[in-house]
Amino acid sequence: MEERMEIDGAVAVVTGGTGAIGQSVIALLAKHGARPVAWDLYVEGGQDGVISCDVGSAESVEAAMEQTVARWGVPAILVTVAAVSGGFSPLATSATGTEWDEVFTAPETWERVLRTNVVGVANCMRSFARRLSDARRPGSVVNVSSISSGPVAEPGLAAYSASKAALNQLTRVAAAELGPLGIRVNAVGPGLMETPMRGPSRPNAGVTKKSDARPAEFASEIVKHVPIEQRHGRGEDIAQAVAAMLQTDWVTGQIVYADGGLTLRSPVTT
Ligand SMILES: NC(=O)c1ccc[n+]([C@@H]2O[C@H](COP(=O)([O-])OP(=O)(O)OC[C@H]3O[C@@H](n4cnc5c(N)ncnc54)[C@H](O)[C@@H]3O)[C@@H](O)[C@H]2O)c1
Repeated sequence: MEERMEIDGAVAVVTGGTGAIGQSVIALLAKHGARPVAWDLYVEGGQDGVISCDVGSAESVEAAMEQTVARWGVPAILVTVAAVSGGFSPLATSATGTEWDEVFTAPETWERVLRTNVVGVANCMRSFARRLSDARRPGSVVNVSSISSGPVAEPGLAAYSASKAALNQLTRVAAAELGPLGIRVNAVGPGLMETPMRGPSRPNAGVTKKSDARPAEFASEIVKHVPIEQRHGRGEDIAQAVAAMLQTDWVTGQIVYADGGLTLRSPVTT
């Protein structure tokens, strides 16, 4: 396929598009001339360019795709930002110092996290690739992963970390399968962010992976190890990395960490 995917003028589906990072991705894609459409479980009434969708349901994804194609046309860009953290759900007392009876990652948590963060992305990529293939047009996918997918193994985040590790490999297999259709698939993994994940049931959602898990000074201590500017990542940083990966012609199946270099070195020295 010789035709090139251009951001300018492309319809761009952004799952989790009403969340913190999703909004930044949408703003940057719009600045580059794309027509972004947010698919999200959390929708405040009457927002233009926002479609209610549960990515964990293949039916819901198909319905959102139908609406998107009917209203804006076939998308050439898919950015999967939607995910849930599952909260702080330790496997062992050593993660918290609490009693064994109080530490448990509930089966429901595993199910919800894997369904949203892994099966949800597969649902979206399948629907996207099918439409593009029918239209015989090229496209580009960026999946939002995390440094918890591999470089960092944080106590209390087993379900979330396992889901993001699976997402990385899903990205690679999808890249191998979809390449012949003219579709590239890459992933961007944010690091320490200034906006914690809030989940789909905001504004009342109090559960984030961080708020109930770590002492307040944790982030301010860790951030000193970020080589670039010693600061937290911002939505715009992730959006910039997403836009870069969307525009490459010869890069596919890659996992790029947008973390200011946090995972380059260990704070433990010998
Ligand atoms: N914020 C961080 O600390 C951080 C760090 C590393 C990676 N990430 C990754 O960045 C991405 C975005 O995180 P964020 O900080 O913007 O979080 P967020 O909670 O603000 O946004 C996530 C969005 O996904 C939506 N969502 C959840 N389940 C859904 C479903 N089943 N169907 C459709 N939408 C659903 C939520 O409603 C929300 O709008 C996630 O993939 C996350 O894993 C975040």
